Amino acid sequence: MAVAVETLRWCPAGHLEMIDQTRLPAVFEYRRYTSAAEVAEGIRSMVVRGAPAIGVAAAYGVALEALRLRDFPHTRFDQELDAGFQALAASRPTAVNLFWALRRMRECWSAKGTLDAPALAAALLDEAHAIHAEDIRINRAMGVHGADLLTDGARVLTHCNAGALATAGHGTALGVIRSAVEAGKRISVIADETRPFLQGARLTAWEMVQEKIPVTLITDNMAGFMMSRGEIDAVVVGTDRVAANGDVANKIGTYMVAVLAHRHRIPFYVACPLSTIDRALASGAEIPIEERTADEVTGYRDCQWAAQGVAVRNPAFDITPAELVTALITEKGVVHAPDREKLAALF
Ligand code: MRU
Repeated sequence: MAVAVETLRWCPAGHLEMIDQTRLPAVFEYRRYTSAAEVAEGIRSMVVRGAPAIGVAAAYGVALEALRLRDFPHTRFDQELDAGFQALAASRPTAVNLFWALRRMRECWSAKGTLDAPALAAALLDEAHAIHAEDIRINRAMGVHGADLLTDGARVLTHCNAGALATAGHGTALGVIRSAVEAGKRISVIADETRPFLQGARLTAWEMVQEKIPVTLITDNMAGFMMSRGEIDAVVVGTDRVAANGDVANKIGTYMVAVLAHRHRIPFYVACPLSTIDRALASGAEIPIEERTADEVTGYRDCQWAAQGVAVRNPAFDITPAELVTALITEKGVVHAPDREKLAALF
């Protein structure tokens, strides 16, 4: 299925291309990747970001590594491919889709282990293509379920970027908005800027402007004011990992938005593919939270505005307790007031 923004694309010459999201919206350009180590660096440096997109990139990273090693002796092939898996797994800690995709690729490796290296590499590439295509189908399905929750004329606040750029295409939270627009609803978006990496200002705003979906940018500290004035009808966000009890990890600042939405009785929806639910973790307290470097907080790119030498914290994600989540939107349907039992029933 055609998608508006091709975040990642496989080139028949045998390499992966990914839009460099660190340079958007000023520069739109693809970077080329030919090994697992390069893709791991692309994930770490956030050339590609967003939970589902990271998973798809990692799957292609494994396939690239197998292709790179295909003429090597068996033992070296196995050792270096395993090292490729490890490099990818170490790239970012919070989004579970990364580990989900790597597990699928390992399962494929085990299942096809008797093939010679070129045939195994081809099988791994097929699996990466399948993960890529599935992600778009899943986003479309979530979009259809989620669109029903939005009324005609709804003003929808979103935090971070859970759009086409964060996935293989269509998006999770922005996928819900896109599907509602496709269904003929007049939806307008309020995009939180999303300090410190500015995914809202740089990426969500860019996606919406490209598609002419009305969008208004606010700084993160304006959301409460907008809600208190009755200017927001619903919140829709994505997620990086949902624990078995329904607690939601998402971009830092999401918890603040959820508390505000609760205070103002505004529905708080989380678009969540099943691959983002981590049934191994009992609650959000167990979700590893990435801590990023101080320079993202003290300034932006070459400009530093904070006092030299100040201590800095930079947790990249926070946890919204399940009790603040009005509903999870999954590809299997909408789960209202999510809890352990309802999540278990999805599988
Ligand atoms: O640090 P990022 O940009 O990778 O964080 C992305 C988010 O928090 C998104 O909201 C989440 O991954 C859902 S994307 C469909």
